[in-house]
Amino acid sequence: MDIRKIIYVLRAIGINGIVRTLQYGFARDRVDNKYSKRVSAVKRLYPGELQSENSIKGGIQLKFEHSSVELIFLSPNLIQISWEPGKPPFPYSIAKSDWETQQPLINSDTSGHSLIWGDFTVTIDNTGGICFQDFKGNILRRDNPPIREGDQWNLSTILAPEEHIYGLGERASSLNLRPGNYCSWNTDPAGSYTHGNDPLYIGTPIYLSLSNAGSYLVYYDNSFRSYFQIGDNFKASFTGGMLRYYLFFGSFEKIFEQLAELVGRPCMPPRWVLGYHQSHWGYRTEADIREVVKGFEEHNLPVSAIHLDIDYMDGFRVFTINSNRFPEMKKLTSDLEDKGIKLVASLNPAVKRDRKYEVFNQGSSKDVFCKLPNGKILSGVSWPGWSVFPDFTKPEARKWWQDQYKSLLSAGISGIWHDMNEPASFAAWGDKTFPISTSHSMDGRGGDHLEAHNLYGLLMNQAGYEAIHEYTPNKRPWIFSRAGWAGLHRYAWNWTGDVESTWESLKQTIPTILGLGLSGHAFSGVDIGGFSGSPGAELYLRWFQMATFLPLFRTHSAIGTKSREPWAYGEPTTGIIRNFLKLRYKLIPYLYTLAWEAAHTGISPIRPIFWENPEDKRLWDVEDEFLLGNAVLLAPILHEKEYKRRITLPRGNWYSFWDDQQYIGPSQFELPVTLETIPLFIKSGSLLPMEESGKICINVYPDIVNTNSNHIYFDDGDGYGAWRVDNFHFNAKQNSMDISWVHEGEFPFPYPFVTIQIHGKQLINAIVDGNPRRIQGNTLITPIFKNLNLYFE
Ligand code: GLC
Repeated sequence: MDIRKIIYVLRAIGINGIVRTLQYGFARDRVDNKYSKRVSAVKRLYPGELQSENSIKGGIQLKFEHSSVELIFLSPNLIQISWEPGKPPFPYSIAKSDWETQQPLINSDTSGHSLIWGDFTVTIDNTGGICFQDFKGNILRRDNPPIREGDQWNLSTILAPEEHIYGLGERASSLNLRPGNYCSWNTDPAGSYTHGNDPLYIGTPIYLSLSNAGSYLVYYDNSFRSYFQIGDNFKASFTGGMLRYYLFFGSFEKIFEQLAELVGRPCMPPRWVLGYHQSHWGYRTEADIREVVKGFEEHNLPVSAIHLDIDYMDGFRVFTINSNRFPEMKKLTSDLEDKGIKLVASLNPAVKRDRKYEVFNQGSSKDVFCKLPNGKILSGVSWPGWSVFPDFTKPEARKWWQDQYKSLLSAGISGIWHDMNEPASFAAWGDKTFPISTSHSMDGRGGDHLEAHNLYGLLMNQAGYEAIHEYTPNKRPWIFSRAGWAGLHRYAWNWTGDVESTWESLKQTIPTILGLGLSGHAFSGVDIGGFSGSPGAELYLRWFQMATFLPLFRTHSAIGTKSREPWAYGEPTTGIIRNFLKLRYKLIPYLYTLAWEAAHTGISPIRPIFWENPEDKRLWDVEDEFLLGNAVLLAPILHEKEYKRRITLPRGNWYSFWDDQQYIGPSQFELPVTLETIPLFIKSGSLLPMEESGKICINVYPDIVNTNSNHIYFDDGDGYGAWRVDNFHFNAKQNSMDISWVHEGEFPFPYPFVTIQIHGKQLINAIVDGNPRRIQGNTLITPIFKNLNLYFE
């Protein structure tokens, strides 16, 4: 441990806390030594001889000497494979199970069986090896027969030499995970982490493969601790359960739509969430919060949410408010609400073991806390000291936890921050979580922590989401969480936790967030400036500029770090930050539209640039740029004193956002940069809605080669009322452009006029629904129209 980490730990939990972490380490090891299964030498069992085959709904079942397998087409693009023996997964992550399966065509011969539906063929041979092909016969994936070793399943998938692997949840590695070794075991790296740390908080076993043959996505529906070795082969090992996995084929859009259908769609956030959030572990009192808000006002900087870290609680007891520090929480929330600012409060699963504390007593009498195999309640260590933890796999515990949110919500708290839910228990060594032998209900069917661990955060979020839904039914719940599993985005966003305040961690943010998005976690963010240190002005600024384009836009920092409000560094930093803050707020109609799209398609607004053209291999490793929706490409500055930046553009025509200069892709070139901006490109054919002072400007970037369709989504910003989608169809030529506009939905268009701003062409004439309209430079202001004809010089 380096000295900074020691100082951090001392500051965070004190000497007593350190003693407890030692005690907990011993206690955890004692429990695991006593109760964990001894594993004696086990045989490696291949499936063995094929013994029988049966046709089942949607597919086929084969019984081998040592194992059996079911292959079921759930749709023409989605195949479920389940190898037994092993407990079937409890379907916490699954949102849809009633697929309209059809019987695939099955061809059998002496070497095996082929199942064909739509464009895909799955062939299983008589040894248990499985091959997946598209209609052209391209091999997308080839699995060797899986091997059973005791309770463990090992599956080796043969990789093509050029194959790239992306995702596996949250990883502090390169975007392409190959080569590398990874573990799925949600883990608090305790204090801080950077490139190379593994595992982290969200270890979702979902990955996207990209090779010459095409792409596919796999979800291993197995929550047991698992290991992935990616080299010549992709070797996956699961420490228990059945080997069930889902394979998704087709275009990226199709793959992610089907994933969202299987594990659920992300929730639509309230609009305020897309603004800027300010947080610091160290805003201890109501006066601190008011002071921060005053700072934003005085510096003319917009802010939408202030976060309350654990200090708002009474001795870190969850669901309490410290009445000395926050004597009038309701008044505070309503005063801030009047200024358009929301309060977000942090919650941890640890419940202080304290007989004088209502939540602990109630939970004990309702029998909701995790227990050891001997029936005793498990005690671990967290911020409040010795603590107990709800068993979120128990329905009664989820319901009880859900009831606790009432008080925070009625005090006017608008958003919830779920922290430490890997679950984390501080330990001086070893695994910083519960003993493996901890018993879990698993909704009545029973299980241990090896199975329940990775699901813990997901289920805490489910309870929280349902609570907010119940107690504030006219608002959309908004939670963001540190840990999770497949399906997390049905309930919560996430952030990348306690990153170091270094250039290396800034750089790491992009591949980490891209990987999360490719694992189904659509909405992520990062602590701007890093969590654990005090960045200099340039690092903070560059971080801020990048985060302006991420879904969660929040500055947060650890206790004991230097104050990091956007004005903390003085000029020129504050002025530049102000411009980026204002840009973020202008972009909210675009971001809100992307959030709405994600809520329907499951596709993260943040995508790798290979999304634009997966056939262009030069894009496969680009991890210092990203796409924000279809229209925007970002190339943040990730190095100190970098004033020249290498840019890679996918095919198409791209406009620089700052000066409308056009760049033709595919291309690579160097661009000079200043401290004031970061390279930002808009794809031709796009529309970029920007809002300022209650007015909307629709920026149009003509594409004279293709016709394009774009849309903008509007509603009231919260709740479940009327909505509208405005669809714009562009048809541009060298000297003219036609735009047609139709809308769906009942929500009235929220602006009396729109400004249409043309980029890259000189406007000379405009006809709105058959009538000439005055133009000013490259813009015109018009009420809603059906058809707009533009003429260029
Ligand atoms: C964890 C969180 C961090 C938070 C701290 C105190 O380390 O990751 O964001 O500030 O706990 O609650």
